Amino acid sequence: MTEQTSRPWWQDALIYQLYIRSFADSNGDGVGDIAGIRSRLGHIASLGVDAIWLNPCYPSPQHDHGYDVANYFDIHGEYGTLEDFDEMLAEAAEHNIKILMDLVPGHCSIDHRWFIAALASPPGSPERARFYFRDGKGENGSEPPNNWQSAFGGPAWTRINEDENDGQWYMHTFAREQPDLDHTNADVQQLFDDIFTFWFDRGVEGFRVDAVAGVGKHPDLPDQPPVGDDAGVLDVTWINPYLAFRPEGHDIWRRFRTSVENYVDAHPERELMMVAEAYAVRRPEIIKAFTEPDQFQQMFSFDLMMTPWEKTSIERAMLDPIAILRETGVAPAWTLNNHDIQRVVTRLGRADAHVPESWTNNNLSLSRADVDLELGERRARAMAALIFALPGSLYLYQGEEIGLPEVFDIPDDRREDPVFDRTNGEEIGRDGCRVPLPWTNDAATSYGFSTPQADGSVDGPWLPQPAGWGERSLDSVEAIENSTLDVYRTLGQMRSAHAVTQPQDAEPVEFGAGLVGVRRGSLVVIVNSTMAPIELDMTHEALGGAELVFTSEPGVATAPGTIPANATIWFTT
Ligand code: BGC
Ligand code: MG
Repeated sequence: MTEQTSRPWWQDALIYQLYIRSFADSNGDGVGDIAGIRSRLGHIASLGVDAIWLNPCYPSPQHDHGYDVANYFDIHGEYGTLEDFDEMLAEAAEHNIKILMDLVPGHCSIDHRWFIAALASPPGSPERARFYFRDGKGENGSEPPNNWQSAFGGPAWTRINEDENDGQWYMHTFAREQPDLDHTNADVQQLFDDIFTFWFDRGVEGFRVDAVAGVGKHPDLPDQPPVGDDAGVLDVTWINPYLAFRPEGHDIWRRFRTSVENYVDAHPERELMMVAEAYAVRRPEIIKAFTEPDQFQQMFSFDLMMTPWEKTSIERAMLDPIAILRETGVAPAWTLNNHDIQRVVTRLGRADAHVPESWTNNNLSLSRADVDLELGERRARAMAALIFALPGSLYLYQGEEIGLPEVFDIPDDRREDPVFDRTNGEEIGRDGCRVPLPWTNDAATSYGFSTPQADGSVDGPWLPQPAGWGERSLDSVEAIENSTLDVYRTLGQMRSAHAVTQPQDAEPVEFGAGLVGVRRGSLVVIVNSTMAPIELDMTHEALGGAELVFTSEPGVATAPGTIPANATIWFTT
């Protein structure tokens, strides 16, 4: 049982995002699975984690790696069974680790029985009414019903087979294999209520709710206004005023919250939560709207994930979410990485550490040639040391704790992200942050990712691992003193000892050029964003009686009162 604090557990939880397909493979088929998770729970616990957020592990044809759900009430065959899931959940509980699932409300899979039934039913039927089926425009309805664009490139509509069917089109905000669900439909509403009950009954403590920006549409589906040439292929979707951040969406989230509250009313011992996923950087009004008391308990603060490595940007990225906390009491859900974004080590390893504001942010123009991984890893540690100090909860993404970089060496014909195909390779997509984890330096087992099959054989990993991956493995970095792993483990302890014990608030402190300072109760944290060590003015009023308790560069010897380049230090006062 977790400790009782005055705050609900999620308000300052450390949460480990687990991309099951790439985490650990127990049966040598090259695909991560639930038994693999069980075999590595000890590692997760060593980080001081309170909960695991599992990326979708429901049955799925994997066109978008589980974000195309064929059945919301079961486990994907390659990953295991419901029994395996239950055992994993019980074992995680022994480590005081809760399980959060990923809920995909916007769309299901073309393999979902409802979609199959819709294709077999006529226009206007109840089967079609669960989705957005519409007649096309133009001669013979051969043009899409409107001009909306899919977030993965190309039109947001696909026409069903004209010969065998009636030639209607269906809408998909993402890939064509992900037909959008219409939440004004009573069956759809009931489905999600049932999903909550099903997984809460099994002991799941909450959900990360996927892609909330595009759920709920303008009822008339009008053409979207023309967009400028500078809009990226993927951004076109998110500036569509009839599809993105619609008021209709909030009705859905209120219903979701009611489902959760009804469950808690019947099970008052449970503390259940939902965290909303959408890119709302520098748009506090959106975060506030989604975290109204009758909607989500949390929404991701992607600000620090999207900021360039530059003092004023980092300050703003840190302070905007804290301003929301002050105003509404809703604490930020900080993130530096996830399965959709180029890994932080690579992003911050560029000289200018430029991060475009596009949500996929994996454009090839951000080439590997510009990246200094050692520099990026230092900055990533410094950024982690900042978020571990701040009020709110933290979502780490698997591999972050060993400083993994983005992988660029994936042959085109091995790329799996639908973004790659749908943009004709213009966007390389998100495979580079999803490469199976290296646990050991043993190439024969895909660097410890796979446990061999009974006959000793191992299938190659579902995405190829690059040369040198084993040197980045958990085993390899575990042997290195002052590694990123050491820093993360220490941060987990420091956070419990010095950060979560402080008030849920923080304020900026000015220490001079290139330094980002923040005070949370008696904890003072300073980031040096420059390329040189800086000697601090220890007579600064915020540093009276200050004791250095942590540095993100434990391997760098510096004079007392000096903060290393690209580093973060913690003082208690
Ligand atoms: C998820 C992506 C997924 C998309 C469609 C996103 O927000 O994080 O991985 O491709 O939603 O479900
Ligand atoms: Mg497997």
